[in-house]
Amino acid sequence: MNQLQSIVILAGAALWLAACSGPAAPQDRLTANDKKIDAVIAQMTLEEKVAMLHSKTNMSSAGVERLGIADMHYADGPFGIREEGVPDGFTPAGWQLDSATYFPTGSALAATWSEDLAYLYGTGMGIEARLRGKDVILGPAINIQRLPVGGRTYEYLSEDPALSAALALRYTQGVQDKGTAVCLKHYAVNNQETNRGSVNAIVDERTLREIYLKPFERAVVEGGAMSVMSAYNKVNGDYCSENEHLLNEVLRGDWGFKGFVVSDWGGTHSTMGAMLHGLNVQMTGSHYLGQPVIDSVRTGALTEELVNEKVRQILRVRYAIEAIPDDVANTKMTSQPECQEIARKVAEKSIVLLKNEGGILPVSRDVKKIAVIGQNAVLKTQSGGGGAGVKALYEITPLQGIRTRAGDAVQVTYAPGYRNFPGRRRGNAQADPLVAAAIDEPSDPALLAEAVALAKEADLVIFFGGTNKSIETEGSDRASLRLPTGQDEVVKALAAVNPRVVTVLISGGPTDLRELEPVSPAIVQGWWNGTEGGTALAEVLFGDIAPSGKLPFTFPMRLEDSPAFALGNFPNKIAGQDLFMMLYRDDLQKMTPEERRAQIAAMPQPESVYSEGQLVGYRWFDTKEIKPLYAFGHGLSYVTFGYGAMKASAGKEAVQVSFELANEGAMDADEVVQLYVRRIDSKVAWPAKELKAFARVNVPAGGRQTVTLSIPYDDLRYWDVDKDAWALEHGRLELLLGAASDDIRQKAEVSF
Ligand code: BGC
Repeated sequence: MNQLQSIVILAGAALWLAACSGPAAPQDRLTANDKKIDAVIAQMTLEEKVAMLHSKTNMSSAGVERLGIADMHYADGPFGIREEGVPDGFTPAGWQLDSATYFPTGSALAATWSEDLAYLYGTGMGIEARLRGKDVILGPAINIQRLPVGGRTYEYLSEDPALSAALALRYTQGVQDKGTAVCLKHYAVNNQETNRGSVNAIVDERTLREIYLKPFERAVVEGGAMSVMSAYNKVNGDYCSENEHLLNEVLRGDWGFKGFVVSDWGGTHSTMGAMLHGLNVQMTGSHYLGQPVIDSVRTGALTEELVNEKVRQILRVRYAIEAIPDDVANTKMTSQPECQEIARKVAEKSIVLLKNEGGILPVSRDVKKIAVIGQNAVLKTQSGGGGAGVKALYEITPLQGIRTRAGDAVQVTYAPGYRNFPGRRRGNAQADPLVAAAIDEPSDPALLAEAVALAKEADLVIFFGGTNKSIETEGSDRASLRLPTGQDEVVKALAAVNPRVVTVLISGGPTDLRELEPVSPAIVQGWWNGTEGGTALAEVLFGDIAPSGKLPFTFPMRLEDSPAFALGNFPNKIAGQDLFMMLYRDDLQKMTPEERRAQIAAMPQPESVYSEGQLVGYRWFDTKEIKPLYAFGHGLSYVTFGYGAMKASAGKEAVQVSFELANEGAMDADEVVQLYVRRIDSKVAWPAKELKAFARVNVPAGGRQTVTLSIPYDDLRYWDVDKDAWALEHGRLELLLGAASDDIRQKAEVSF
């Protein structure tokens, strides 16, 4: 085997290419049919045009049958094509062929730090969308993970804009290369579920551009994303579905977006606001963008040219995406073997080895009896959590994966260990001994005793803890990071009888590990890892492959250490007006519309102040010198990697770094190398370090590879609020190359 291989990884090469051919080149592809489209619009009645501006069914908006224009079919998104619902809602339609591949959820995909896998993932989603006759995938979900407790942390990618943006771009390209449009969501600053329908996110322009909008910008400008979903919340005073700055100035103006914007479901708030400030399609309902638009055009309050413009933007996507005829769609099972394979590959590379004291992993050949403890080893994670649930064709649970891999040579026993908390609305604790009535219920003595008995007799204990999709879910944020239903007590009791405890966390976001960590010599972050999650986990635990995932977010020691909490910006206790309050406020339901309007107008308007600015995630921890439990980018392997001397240079267009990466172990393995920068003597305020380039590199056992990383100068710019433009400040830069944000192996200084 040739052990000396050389690879060149040009992070940001795509950006250059895009820049060479004009920044909006991929978007310009959407305008190819504008002449034809205008001719079609000329034949449409006002009613036909307006019918395109709102939902037709819960998951479609209208075309014009008379003119051969097909309806637009949408699908959640983002981790598998969601099961078919009845036309007017999410109730399952009871189809036979709509079982899809369940792909690893967002934070798991991000933990791969692999642009190639993000692309493959997108192709898998695109392939299955086409089989179901879907034109638009409601995803990827690419908001920044601002809060560790965020209900949608598991859906989103990362706390870091560069990592999120790189993966969002490749996911977008993968989907669209398969002939389906993405719908980037939720644009923008949708970082909390608390009061999500009404909260006003107050965020300064520089933070907005550099942190919260970055993933959207790359997916639109470089990826040519064809549609965008406006978020439920407000940003700086205006709802996202009628936010002139976000939709017309930034998205269409600065980024050259040529496609269409749909509101999040139920997130349209007015006729004039939406029409004048950038929305194309009201999802769902027609009370704002239906008859009121027709009336407004007839009275002259709105121009028909504005309606034409909105229809043109929708038709551009309709023309770019081939409609699948009804008799062709849904004739095959949605889940395809090639997509299941993609799901497995992503899962394999996502698993993060957080700790491995005494090399307790991989499972040694001497282990003949394993006790698997914890319901998270058997609970399926495909459904729940809101719109991102999937009806999977199959899902290999961790216990199944372990049993299959262990074979006959190893005896695997199982005990549930703790009760599962299935959320407030479901579950009957009295009727089912495995179901808890409250999230903070202590451990159950009978379940604990059973688990301890198994642990005593085993050579190795694998404890499965974490959360579930009722705890981490759309619609609410977690109240704390504490592990639910007495899991800490269980793991301590297990460790007391058998110190060989491996803890596997099955969750989408971080959890509080202060009690569990001291008694677990090994800890693995196993995620909600899709259809083949259990297979991938077993491969890693048994050492068939080396773990190579890296954390896409910080694991704080304590929740209060994280920025929004430390500054008192979250939780904001105001329970104010909320989009969904009609669902649970009986008092409002009983009022007349006039009474209700008056009541709502008098309610407090919840605000979320982003005073931490750019200091999101590790940017905060590093700048404030607060030690997290596990840092952003952290993840161990079964091998060690040597980082050779770094050569750094500042060229015409970019900073370049190269070094030799050596796999010092006895098995092939991947390493995710990370390049951060620290600004020296800058006039502008910066965090202590920022990720600017990364690469996943495969190195054979005992081998070496030369790795080249590049930071285009464009990526070093900041948003100059005085000039209202991007600006580059030349100067000195410290380059920090390492295996994690807190594991910097090489430093160099360049001037540019
Ligand atoms: C979610 C979106 C989802 C939509 C349709 C909304 O509640 O916020 O992410 O795509 O529902 O299911």
